[in-house]
Amino acid sequence: MDLMTSRYKLLNDGNKIPVLGFGTFGNMNVNKNDEEEAVKKAIEVGFRHFDGATLYENEKEVGRAIQAKIADGTVTREDIFYTGKLWSSSHYSTFVRPALEETLKNLQLDYINLYIIHWPVTLKPGMNLQALQKNNELSFDYVDLCTTWEALEACKDAGLVKSIGVSNFNHKQLEMILTKPGLKHKPVCNQVECHPYLNQSKLLEFCKANDIVLVAYSALGSQMSMSGNPSFPVLLEDPVLGAIAKKHNRTPALVALRYQLQRGVVVLAKSFNEKRIKENMQVFDFQLTPEDMKAIDGLNRNYRYIKAEK
Ligand SMILES: NC(=O)c1ccc[n+]([C@@H]2O[C@H](COP(=O)([O-])OP(=O)(O)OC[C@H]3O[C@@H](n4cnc5c(N)ncnc54)[C@H](OP(=O)(O)O)[C@@H]3O)[C@@H](O)[C@H]2O)c1
Repeated sequence: MDLMTSRYKLLNDGNKIPVLGFGTFGNMNVNKNDEEEAVKKAIEVGFRHFDGATLYENEKEVGRAIQAKIADGTVTREDIFYTGKLWSSSHYSTFVRPALEETLKNLQLDYINLYIIHWPVTLKPGMNLQALQKNNELSFDYVDLCTTWEALEACKDAGLVKSIGVSNFNHKQLEMILTKPGLKHKPVCNQVECHPYLNQSKLLEFCKANDIVLVAYSALGSQMSMSGNPSFPVLLEDPVLGAIAKKHNRTPALVALRYQLQRGVVVLAKSFNEKRIKENMQVFDFQLTPEDMKAIDGLNRNYRYIKAEK
């Protein structure tokens, strides 16, 4: 794919996904109105792919921003690619469609482009963001994710969602879906933590071999690395990224995003800051050399900022 001209990737079901997505998750300190304004700004500067989730508790604000930009003629519904996520307390097959319908209602949309299983772990009903933050109060359950997948397939067949996929799945969990008897629709993507300190090269190889797009989250080192907590390495202060950025007259953030595009990964970038939202669109304006790519590959240390993955 020529990344200088193509901003989309073909999914295994024939739909297209924009290769750069806007992350909508804001931590508890972020004002919901600021999240709404950030999504509007992102649309204005050219973002067309929005990554949301029930867990983020801001679907209404994100939906309002999208509706406002459709209403003022900046975009049409067809221009926007929206990803929603099925939260872990809704894996029971009878909960799946109602959960998606609630998301559609929050967003004021009659379909979304992609719906993914947020985590391969099932939680008892009612386990939300607050429960997640007080980790010791989490209460787990067991659900065969193949039955959850079948409920997602039914949502696609009903036209509520164009494509279906997964998140935080390892290759064994992906295989479980891929080899499920009677599989009707393959997952189009696996959204996982992925950045130069956790480059997921083996999982990426597996996904490519199975025509599944890998979507990178926390590609800038996650919001945790910006928290000032010294226990998290700050990816964007890495000297190798810094030297490559300097050479191209770009920032380490742009280098980290561009790295993913050149290895065939769809990349998400979260920023609620106007200047940085604009800056992140420059990812299409330059190219890393094979030597740069090799040097960034060399930074891998299998380091996870988000410890929740199984
Ligand atoms: N599937 C899952 O389980 C899962 C898990 C985590 C995240 N996600 C998704 O992935 C998205 C992105 O991941 P993330 O939220 O961890 O954040 P991220 O994209 O790694 O970004 C981390 C921080 O980088 C800063 N930043 C953005 N652009 C920058 C630039 N050009 N220069 C310097 N700093 C910059 C942002 O702060 P400012 O806002 O101050 O610019 C942001 O807080 C989420 O919002 C969510 O949609 C999914």
